[in-house]
Amino acid sequence: MTARKPADPRWYQDAVIYETHVKAFYDGNGDGVGDFQGLTEKLDYLEALGVTCLWLLPFFPSPLRDDGYDIADYRDVHPSYGTLADFSRFLEEAHRRDLSVLIELVVNHTSDQHPWFQRARRSPPGSPERDFYVWSDDDRKFSGTRIIFTDTEKSNWTWDPEAKAFYWHRFFSHQPDLNFDNPAVIEQIERVMKFWLDLGVDGFRLDAIPYLVERDGTSCENLPETHAVIRRLRAFVDRHAPGCMLLAEANQWPEDVRPYFGDGDECHMAFHFPLMPRIFMGLRRESAAPIVDIMRRTPAIPPSCQWALFLRNHDELTLEMVTEDERAYMNLAYARDPRARVNVGIRRRLAPLVENGRRRIELLNALLFSFPGTPIVYYGDELGMGDDVLRPDRDGVRTPMQWRGEPSAGFSSRPPEALYSLPVTDPVYGVQAVNVEAQLADRSSLLHWMRNLIRLRRQFRVFGRGTLEFLPAANPRVLAYVRRLDSDVVLCVANLSRHAQPAELDLSGFEGYTPVEMLGYTPFPRVGRTPYLLTLAGYGFLWFELRREG
Ligand code: NOJ
Repeated sequence: MTARKPADPRWYQDAVIYETHVKAFYDGNGDGVGDFQGLTEKLDYLEALGVTCLWLLPFFPSPLRDDGYDIADYRDVHPSYGTLADFSRFLEEAHRRDLSVLIELVVNHTSDQHPWFQRARRSPPGSPERDFYVWSDDDRKFSGTRIIFTDTEKSNWTWDPEAKAFYWHRFFSHQPDLNFDNPAVIEQIERVMKFWLDLGVDGFRLDAIPYLVERDGTSCENLPETHAVIRRLRAFVDRHAPGCMLLAEANQWPEDVRPYFGDGDECHMAFHFPLMPRIFMGLRRESAAPIVDIMRRTPAIPPSCQWALFLRNHDELTLEMVTEDERAYMNLAYARDPRARVNVGIRRRLAPLVENGRRRIELLNALLFSFPGTPIVYYGDELGMGDDVLRPDRDGVRTPMQWRGEPSAGFSSRPPEALYSLPVTDPVYGVQAVNVEAQLADRSSLLHWMRNLIRLRRQFRVFGRGTLEFLPAANPRVLAYVRRLDSDVVLCVANLSRHAQPAELDLSGFEGYTPVEMLGYTPFPRVGRTPYLLTLAGYGFLWFELRREG
């Protein structure tokens, strides 16, 4: 199969992305581990949910010491998840339902089990094979570089007795960094991309992309040399599969992420990391300020580009892109239990972060789906699934998808103890309380609500492509903003407080317009000359289409 030519080359600007692990979604062959066969069987569920793109976490052969981000073979499928033929069948079925598929390109590092590394450590210093990785005789080079996995790693260098040299790694010590100063490495990466493009994938998430190139005397992040590599990878994609989307995982401040879009010649999309914790901060402080501040600090991006927005994902709620004070506040507000913390972040899912507050879950999703960018839903968060902070590393947010109220969650025919991970069992979030089957049968469930929200969002292109203007609000607990695309105008108002709040909005630019509430399709009083008055319930939000009369 070859890549689909998307009807609209900017398809990702209107997408709704769903992130999942193949291993966690559905076990099709009854061995206790989710697989491509199972994922394919559940595509109808995803189609009915209304998402338009699936982002799959790494599914390649791997020793799985970093859940697959430690790749041992870039051009195959981990045998637990199926075969390449299963992948192709999955892709075909996804495409048949108009679902795009985004896969991981984890090229900053490989597993230490990758044949390239095994070959490198045995080859003489200076040889092309050795030069696939970054070596040093001492561990003092690049000393200005921070450590990312602070809980496990003390240094970015590890001694290799076989090579008799130190090798460089920004993550776990079993994940040596590839040497992007070596053109042979880039050629290999292009071959990997070509392999998956030829199979028909629609995009790549570029994992850990700020760290490709190292230079002494720098932080070894965001270097011009790294951007040069990304431009080359982009040009490669444009030549071989125009329309294939590149998504940058650059956990950086907005001004440092901006260059990953280049002049529209690097990545099509990039995650907005700093926005995410500030949404949670705004909610807890009942204040619009943190959200408004970070959006004001967010530079404009080229028209062909797009932010990727998320509330939660497979990692911890990272607190790297906040100040010391903000970090202390977030830990106090959301992770009083120190076991909920990992590295520089909080290992919790969406629902437990907000104490299972349904109105808060809805409010956060309303922000996610109405802010400028493409929303990403982490699997299970559409149900309000919980987590387990007692599991190692980030495993507690990667438990089996909860399909039915059965011991194995309807995820597998095997008993719970034979699954890759025990499902969540606590009384609030466990399989009995939270599962797809029950929520489908319950018209007022979160799942039905999410389906509606997704459907609504997809009807209005302005959400994905429109501009953003904040309205000055007399009430600091209320966030009010206008999204505009040509003549389409949407007004969003959100109450971050748990109590009812008044909002007095200056809509003078819209005099004579009629706000039509979008979820119920209810016309509200016409905008006049005086400030527009609204009352919002605690954690309430309203979306209005502003219609010009006549
Ligand atoms: C970023 C991924 O999101 C994370 O899960 C992984 O551990 C690191 N990259 C290292 O590969």
